[in-house]
Amino acid sequence: MVEPTRADKFSFGLWTVGWQARDPFGDPTRPELDPVESVHRLAELGAYGITFHDDDVFPLGATDAERGRRIERLRKALAETGLQVPMVTTNLFTHPVFKDGGFTANDRAVRRFALRKVLRNVELAAEMGARTYVLWGGREGSEYDTAKDVRAALDRYREALNLLTEFVIDRGYDLRFAIEPKPNEPRGDILLPTVGHALAFISALEHPELVGVNPEVGHEQMAGLNFAHSIAQALWQGKLFHIDLNGQRGIKFDQDLVFGHGDLMNAFALVDLLENGGPGGAPAYDGPRHFDYKPSRTEDIAGVWQSAAANMRTYLLLKQRAAAFRADPEVRQVLSDAGVPDLARPTLDPGEGHESILADPALTNFDADAAGARGYGFVRLNQLALEHLLGAR
Ligand code: GCO
Ligand code: MN
Ligand code: MN
Ligand code: MN
Repeated sequence: MVEPTRADKFSFGLWTVGWQARDPFGDPTRPELDPVESVHRLAELGAYGITFHDDDVFPLGATDAERGRRIERLRKALAETGLQVPMVTTNLFTHPVFKDGGFTANDRAVRRFALRKVLRNVELAAEMGARTYVLWGGREGSEYDTAKDVRAALDRYREALNLLTEFVIDRGYDLRFAIEPKPNEPRGDILLPTVGHALAFISALEHPELVGVNPEVGHEQMAGLNFAHSIAQALWQGKLFHIDLNGQRGIKFDQDLVFGHGDLMNAFALVDLLENGGPGGAPAYDGPRHFDYKPSRTEDIAGVWQSAAANMRTYLLLKQRAAAFRADPEVRQVLSDAGVPDLARPTLDPGEGHESILADPALTNFDADAAGARGYGFVRLNQLALEHLLGAR
């Protein structure tokens, strides 16, 4: 079945379908979309949830009354459709005040303003029942190496994260934070540019257990990295708190294409990992399958809803193809010939240490030439994956 249901846990940012397609070279090509309409359309298409930045719902500088009125309209749409809000995030990038960043702006007053903006929206996120709060620091960075003291910026970034985790602990919120890495755009160089950088940063925090990552397909690929590898390491470290699915074609500007419309083989590997990569072939991730894409500028409003549906349909098709790949007896044989399952076996026997490796006579007589002559059959394995992906098997 490739009809999305709520059990599939598909979610969309309001800013995705709501993007009016303004880019650095051109005016918007689509009219404004009312978040209430987006909620209804996404519910009809089979999504289970929506996510938002504060500014997607009420403008920066809105009075408390205006803010409350807009939130109530959204709440009503959510109640009517039964959609959830699994994740909320902050816009710390659109207004000129954030042109040098939020948490890491050189201007201390801007940093304090950013902290308050996030704290207020974390309160709202908790009220809406969100379990994940995403931090995408698109403006945290620089164009010029002389303009930013990176170590001081990381101190301020850590100070902000420590304040936020203290806040959810003191308030008793059931909410965790997820850092979203990106190498560049809009800044020339963004701090915490990859999943690896973010994971290392998290280990320096006061409450690392409350902070994970929200990797986006295209962002790792903009850095030339293998997204499925980044996700595997985030899972391995217990840090895959959320995920942004989309498509990207190589190292260039952030395309935010529909999921699967970029590197399709890697998307297949990713869905296989998420859906079948857990113990005994169970899912390795049970959080929202969140799409953070942009309907291309060429599309009219009908194209917006077609592209939203395309994300979910592509995911489900890949899930179906990955299940067929895993169930194929020939694939199992070729995986075994390739030694893939053997990597799960510890390299040392129980009780062994460095001295037993040094003393092992089998290693003294090890025939490296014979072992080096082994063919692994990885190409055959990959061709089987490709044939399943194409529906040829
Ligand atoms: C991007 C980013 C953003 C963030 C979003 C959450 O494409 O550069 O994905 O879309 O995910 O703004 O803060
Ligand atoms: Mn992106
Ligand atoms: Mn994103
Ligand atoms: Mn995006």
